[in-house]
Amino acid sequence: MEIYKNPTAPIASRVEDLLQRMTLEEKVGQTNQLVGVEHFRHNLGVMNAGDLFRNTAQAIYVGCEPEDLEAWTQQGRVGSFLHVNTIEEANRLQHLAMQSRLAVPLLFGIDAIHGNAYCRDNTVYPGNLGLACSFNVELARRIARQTAAEMRAMNMHWTFNPNVEVARDARWGRCGETYGEDCYLVTRMGVATVEGLQGKLDSEADVMACAKHWVGGSLPENGTNGSPADMSERTLRTTFFPPFKAAVDAGVATVMPSHNELNGVPCHSNRWLMTDVLRGEWGFDGFVVSDWMDIEHVHDLHGTAETVEDAYRQSITAGMDMHMHGPGWVDAVCQLVRDGVISEERIDESVRRILTMKFRLGLFEHPYADEAKTMQVRLCQEHRRTALEAARQSIVLLKNSGLLPLDAKRVGKILVTGINANDENIMGDWSAQQRAENVITVLDGVRSLASEDAEVMYVDQGWDPRNMNPAMVERAAQAAREADVNIVVAGEYMMRWRWHDRTCGEDTDRSDIDLVGLQNELIERVAASGKPTVLVLINGRPLGIERVAGKVSAIVEAWESGMCGGQAIAEILFGKVNPSAKLSITIPHSVGQLRSYYDHKPSMYFHPYVCAPSEPLFPFGYGLSYTQYAYSNLSLSGEIDADGNGQIDVAVTVANTGKRDGVEIVQLYIRDEYSTFTRPVKELKDFARVELKAGGKKRVHFILTADKLAMLDGNFAPVVEPGGFVVMVGSSSRDCDLLKSRFVVKKK
Ligand code: GLC
Repeated sequence: MEIYKNPTAPIASRVEDLLQRMTLEEKVGQTNQLVGVEHFRHNLGVMNAGDLFRNTAQAIYVGCEPEDLEAWTQQGRVGSFLHVNTIEEANRLQHLAMQSRLAVPLLFGIDAIHGNAYCRDNTVYPGNLGLACSFNVELARRIARQTAAEMRAMNMHWTFNPNVEVARDARWGRCGETYGEDCYLVTRMGVATVEGLQGKLDSEADVMACAKHWVGGSLPENGTNGSPADMSERTLRTTFFPPFKAAVDAGVATVMPSHNELNGVPCHSNRWLMTDVLRGEWGFDGFVVSDWMDIEHVHDLHGTAETVEDAYRQSITAGMDMHMHGPGWVDAVCQLVRDGVISEERIDESVRRILTMKFRLGLFEHPYADEAKTMQVRLCQEHRRTALEAARQSIVLLKNSGLLPLDAKRVGKILVTGINANDENIMGDWSAQQRAENVITVLDGVRSLASEDAEVMYVDQGWDPRNMNPAMVERAAQAAREADVNIVVAGEYMMRWRWHDRTCGEDTDRSDIDLVGLQNELIERVAASGKPTVLVLINGRPLGIERVAGKVSAIVEAWESGMCGGQAIAEILFGKVNPSAKLSITIPHSVGQLRSYYDHKPSMYFHPYVCAPSEPLFPFGYGLSYTQYAYSNLSLSGEIDADGNGQIDVAVTVANTGKRDGVEIVQLYIRDEYSTFTRPVKELKDFARVELKAGGKKRVHFILTADKLAMLDGNFAPVVEPGGFVVMVGSSSRDCDLLKSRFVVKKK
């Protein structure tokens, strides 16, 4: 038996044995990723060459037929597919690969961003931005674990998640895919997701994760996806690098560079990013996969390569290992090697990295998934329960003038209306259409929790915010006058199968962040009825709702709350669940306030705006409950010296002074009083979810160590400078919500 086929042989030996058996074409074939054959076949009828340039989600290969992709697979010219959305197709393509000369199995990659939601009949959990509002790292890990199980049940081995970018601009349509604006929270959630997805990457329960997008695309020049990022190395290393470094330290298997250029160099041909930092400084030992046609864009967009071939050369030389995606890669790269432009040794490096992952995933021994068992895992009751639990913990109560929770016995007539009141859009971006019976809308949830003799009136505003009907707005306004309470479910539209109708999501960026269409008018007209009105938001970016915020009695920010979102929202509206979530991203008053984030530098608002507030509408870390919490007795003990030895023990008492049990997300921030380089007015350094019975209280403890105090010195090395540090602990990032104390790091 050849060594590479021997499951008991060390992986490194299997890799070397297989590598030396491969032709150049078979080697480059491993670095070649294509879109799935059914994806291709579907688009053949609906796309043309002109659609390709700006499309980052759908593709065809001009001049090719679906059968070509199958033939290339049999010839060992394909190493991976993405956007294969059924187990049947995955197994079929795998059979073709196993017929190749060396029978090297394929890697199937998919954007499983919140469950394997991009495929039908899978559990759809809340999106990342909402999940981060739970501040529940264990929950993120559990969701990732369950997602891995559902992926492997479909013979999928690799998700292009977590998106560990730090979101800084609400105009950007992909905020919802990130874990928010704070580096520390993004880091914690990202690492937990990598760990949940990958386990030890040594079993059939594991899938590869992908830390993306590397780097800077979440602070786009004009808020649009892929536009230039231009920032100092200090900003990069302080705010945008740490989540990626932590993912690498957690063993993330792959990294995906960002569409954008960074400081004049496209990320896809950026050696500093893909090799010097990732591998040289951090020791990354996985592989780098390009984003969608972005190597070609080094030539046809960024203009730093005169030919596609030179773009390939630049990217591979800079550290790229796998090409997403297209038919020209294999022949072009083989020619670059034959012409001596790229060494075969460099190709071998990439092939080793890719083969190592295939062996670690056990694909040579288990190349297929069992179609008879696939639905035993997918959508199982345990996963549905987790999706519901996650939705409950992700929904933020932003305003409540006493209307909520509703007393089902006392609301005889309820109006439900709004574009997101009864639509699968509640699942959020990166979702395939799911069976209607598996998606609980807000209307479904309200109907199930309203009392039996209550009348739930529904006025359908359609799903499309751009094409709302004024007559239906008027009809809702009339119905509102009859209701005891009005629920308007507004927000953004994210469904990919109506790609151009979306208002939020990938490549769906805006120059404003207000409610699209007649939504403001709808909310105002309903609220003008004089009956109490609740605004529920389903959205993937912070929305500038200042025009209506003061006109409604309550605001519930539900984000993209997944297939159980409607139930969780209704449970919160009717008080079955006490909301606990806190904002993972600032909600500004308007687009004019951008960029708006809590960990700003001291001079950011030295001169406040005139004619408009400077504070955000709702700040990072903010969220209400149906009970009240009181913080007292913040104490610090211990010390940290200038060598970074020691620790500060932080303790605070949190009491539940209300009448309902609840969970409080206690947040710990620091402020370095004086530093060689400017530092933010506060920085989140720890948090804890604290369960508190009504009337109960707990002493909550944190430990501050030097790494949590450190900044980067002039050489970007971490340093703890002597001097005073303020510790702030409380219920949000607002100063008025924080208890403060102080300690000093003594000079040597
Ligand atoms: C897109 C996205 C990336 C995704 C990839 C595959 O362009 O930028 O996040 O993983 O294509 O869908």
